[in-house]
Amino acid sequence: MQELENLKQNISNKFTNTFNESPEMISVAPGRINVIGEHTDYNLGFSMPAAINRWVIICFSYRNDNIIKISSESFGSTMEYHLGKHFEPSQSWMQYMQGAIEIYQRTEKIDRGFNAYIWGNVPLGSGVSSSAALEVATMALLRTAYKGNFDDVSLVINCQKIEHEYLGVKSGLLDQYASQLSKAGKLMSLDFQSLTHSYFDAAIGKYCWVLVNTKVKRELAGSKYSERVEETQAGLKTLNTLKSTIKKFRDITINDIDLLENKVIKKRIKHFVTENQRVIDTAKAFETNNLDLVGKLLLQSHESLKNDYEVSCVELDFLVEKSLQFDGFLGGRMMGGGFGGCTINLVEKTKLSQYESYILPAYKSRFNIEGEIYAFDMVDGASVEVF
Ligand code: GLA
Repeated sequence: MQELENLKQNISNKFTNTFNESPEMISVAPGRINVIGEHTDYNLGFSMPAAINRWVIICFSYRNDNIIKISSESFGSTMEYHLGKHFEPSQSWMQYMQGAIEIYQRTEKIDRGFNAYIWGNVPLGSGVSSSAALEVATMALLRTAYKGNFDDVSLVINCQKIEHEYLGVKSGLLDQYASQLSKAGKLMSLDFQSLTHSYFDAAIGKYCWVLVNTKVKRELAGSKYSERVEETQAGLKTLNTLKSTIKKFRDITINDIDLLENKVIKKRIKHFVTENQRVIDTAKAFETNNLDLVGKLLLQSHESLKNDYEVSCVELDFLVEKSLQFDGFLGGRMMGGGFGGCTINLVEKTKLSQYESYILPAYKSRFNIEGEIYAFDMVDGASVEVF
């Protein structure tokens, strides 16, 4: 892909300017979209993501001492890490690095230091997984550079440990899995219970996917996210005491929800059950080329995330509601963790620029925020090139 090759060349030059040598490896990991299956991953449901042409790129060379020197253009800072010594991260991107390095060393060895230069164009805090791209690019790089003996799914799980242990967010595997294992031009059908995936062409004819960024950063996201994880786990526990055949989230049927007395927990579990079914229904709708139905399922997903799971926000809701009045909009919904970030939308291709000049000014006049709109390509997952 020419766009990526140009970026790699560009970052490689920056590495050379910073460290006075050429890189020996370049690691690349993409951000992701998710068509449907939101807040289902940590409860072992289904999702339908794809990687997009926004990347974190890391150039790398070995050193002959125990120092790890990482320069980050995006964050305008440099960290120095001495293998075997305690490191106190002063910025959050350094926590990701520290997490990756320490978790990698739990099972593998890093026998000498390295220089690295990090760059990225995955929009930050926008629900397209810039942090997962950073984790995956780093973990994949360490695996190649220090001959780590683990497969892609273990790599993804290692990256999740960074979120759990270093960032304190009990997230699922959606972001890292999509960043590592996506295939160009395909959507992925992901099953978090069996940890298996398959790819399929999801032809969308005269339509295209488009993201609209609210530019609202997800400040509450961390604590509310953990709250949802806990609420749904509490729901499963209660259901299990009431009906012993319910052991996993996927054992819960829509009728079981009525067994729950707590209204909030009931809504949370309802979201899981209905959203999981929507992923299955969306796959079928793609198979039968029923794009109207795909659009409807996206809108239902949004309603469920807004009313039952309560992870949307007024800005996201506005974008979806306003889009509904646009002729050529088939459906859309909030995407990712919620409380800000992007909506994902199916819009008629020939009306894309009309849609842009419709939705962005409307958004600006309502919230006084300059939103952004992105078209994107679906690209391959992470890769490491060795020179
Ligand atoms: C965030 C998390 C993912 C997933 C989504 C919601 O992106 O990192 O694990 O839970 O939210 O689907």
